[in-house]
Amino acid sequence: MTTGTPTIPDEVVATVADAGWITVFSGAGMSADSGVPTFRDAQTGLWENFDPATIASPEAWDADPALVWGWYHWRAHLVRDARPNAGHLALAELSSVGAGDDERALMVVTQNVDDLHERAGTPVLSHLHGSLFAPRCSVCDTPYDGPDADSAVEPEGSKHDPRLTPPTCAVCGGAVRPGIVWFGEHLPADAWERAENAFRGADVVLVVGTSGIVYPAASLPERAAASGVPVIEINPEPSALTEVATHSIRAGAATALPALVDAIRRRG
Ligand SMILES: NC(=O)c1ccc[n+]([C@@H]2O[C@H](COP(=O)([O-])OP(=O)(O)OC[C@H]3O[C@@H](n4cnc5c(N)ncnc54)[C@H](O)[C@@H]3O)[C@@H](O)[C@H]2O)c1
Ligand SMILES: [Zn+2]
Repeated sequence: MTTGTPTIPDEVVATVADAGWITVFSGAGMSADSGVPTFRDAQTGLWENFDPATIASPEAWDADPALVWGWYHWRAHLVRDARPNAGHLALAELSSVGAGDDERALMVVTQNVDDLHERAGTPVLSHLHGSLFAPRCSVCDTPYDGPDADSAVEPEGSKHDPRLTPPTCAVCGGAVRPGIVWFGEHLPADAWERAENAFRGADVVLVVGTSGIVYPAASLPERAAASGVPVIEINPEPSALTEVATHSIRAGAATALPALVDAIRRRG
């Protein structure tokens, strides 16, 4: 977590305040201040011996569905207990603050599989990598909303095996899988198309809390930058998108986004 109020450059404040259409591109760092661990931080407790990048794959599902289901069940449980942070809440204000009667369009394209943007009051246009809360049949794709979809799992540190047998589909009896886009899988065509449209129309792009190394998602801000759209990065650390960013604000989402909203409000 980053402390202290970061200074937002006047040029950034003016660019965002004058934008009619803002597109937000968020990653795991957006939710870090809500206590949802990034992959790097997730190897704790029950899961210390498992590599999340390996679990998030079709190969892992084929080899050990109960391990994969147990992992996402645990992630969903963490997210249920988490709350949107001040960054999510500030984004929810961004469409109206200082905009007079002409509300800005605010399009959120996220790589996150949590629902913290939505719970802060910002609809998500595109969940590029799926959702923890949309399991479906691995055979026939029927959405699953049965009782096991989000019930609690053993707390972290339990001696129990983290595996959890996935429920079965009511239609075909197939195993229910998480509604996540795993490494090596194609992005859902509709989510991708909505994301492309969001970037195509943007006056400014805010890149928040992503390392910018997962493709094709990261190509969206890259292409926007190449076509001359200002790209503003919010991330305490440099990332792969820093070089295409017009400005980088080196602070966490939960401090930088409220500071940006306050600066726009003061500008009037
Ligand atoms: N919350 C979630 O839904 C979640 C969590 C972990 C991983 N994932 C998945 O893992 C993949 C990893 O890519 P990624 O780029 O989203 O995450 P990443 O873990 O690769 O990168 C996280 C980035 O956030 C930055 N960061 C850390 N704390 C921050 C803060 N307080 N404010 C702003 N930035 C902060 C880090 O410097 C880093 O650049 C994604 O495809 C995503 O689907 C999702
Ligand atoms: Zn089925």
